[in-house]
Amino acid sequence: MTHFDKAQVTQDLTGQHWVITAGPTMEAIDPVRFISNHSSGKMGYALATAAIARGATVTLISGPVQITAPAGAKIIAVKSADEMLAACQQSMITQADVFIGAAAVADFKMKAACDQKMKKQSDTDEITLTLVKNPDIIATLAQQKRAKTLVGFAAETQNVIEYAKSKLERKGLDIIIANDVSRADIGFNQDDNQVTVITKDKTWSPDKTTKNALAGQLVEFINEYALQTSIS
Ligand code: PMT
Repeated sequence: MTHFDKAQVTQDLTGQHWVITAGPTMEAIDPVRFISNHSSGKMGYALATAAIARGATVTLISGPVQITAPAGAKIIAVKSADEMLAACQQSMITQADVFIGAAAVADFKMKAACDQKMKKQSDTDEITLTLVKNPDIIATLAQQKRAKTLVGFAAETQNVIEYAKSKLERKGLDIIIANDVSRADIGFNQDDNQVTVITKDKTWSPDKTTKNALAGQLVEFINEYALQTSIS
């Protein structure tokens, strides 16, 4: 049996709405160039598949990726962080049960993207682009209480646990999943992952495994957390 063999997996998330972001955002510099990152969408898509297998209704808000959409997900394709935020808010007009921010959102965008392709200037070897901060999607959703349980990822290359804990607090999240993206064997665009799951009073480090298998474990953890906080 695989984790996602629907006939044999408990349908305990039936009636729940999970909203998951995945993939990179793409911030236009001009009509042919953009700022982005190496996210493949695999982690977010695996989480969507795992939640659907347990009966959840899943809205998957995805940046541009090259992988196949999970069967049964409502997919909303976006490019920029602004579009991703708007799609999240629209999907959570009614409060969602769980929000998971697995997307690698670009922290900055062009102050003003150029309407026309930028031309090389012959008199200079340098170019200066003025960038401004993108909205913090998950922090905005936390402030607006758009989901009962909010789960973020923290992609870090150093001080992984410390920085993840500070994001948990600063962004107002329930759970943060620390991902060491300095490692070549896990994280961005790999089939495997290894993470540390952190809540206000718990830290859990499952073994390195495939993103598909890890997604099943993470969905289980998130659901247990949600059940416990709803009765306490
Ligand atoms: O897509 P894959 O190739 O499978 O790779 C998986 C992954 C490495 C992309 C994924 O596991 C991961 O770590 N995702 C989070 C990447 C990221 O943007 O991390 P961050 O530490 O910069 O952001 C922290 C959290 O805030 C994340 O939940 C992010 O979605 C969210 N965020 C960040 C910036 C922003 N402007 N708005 C946000 O909502």
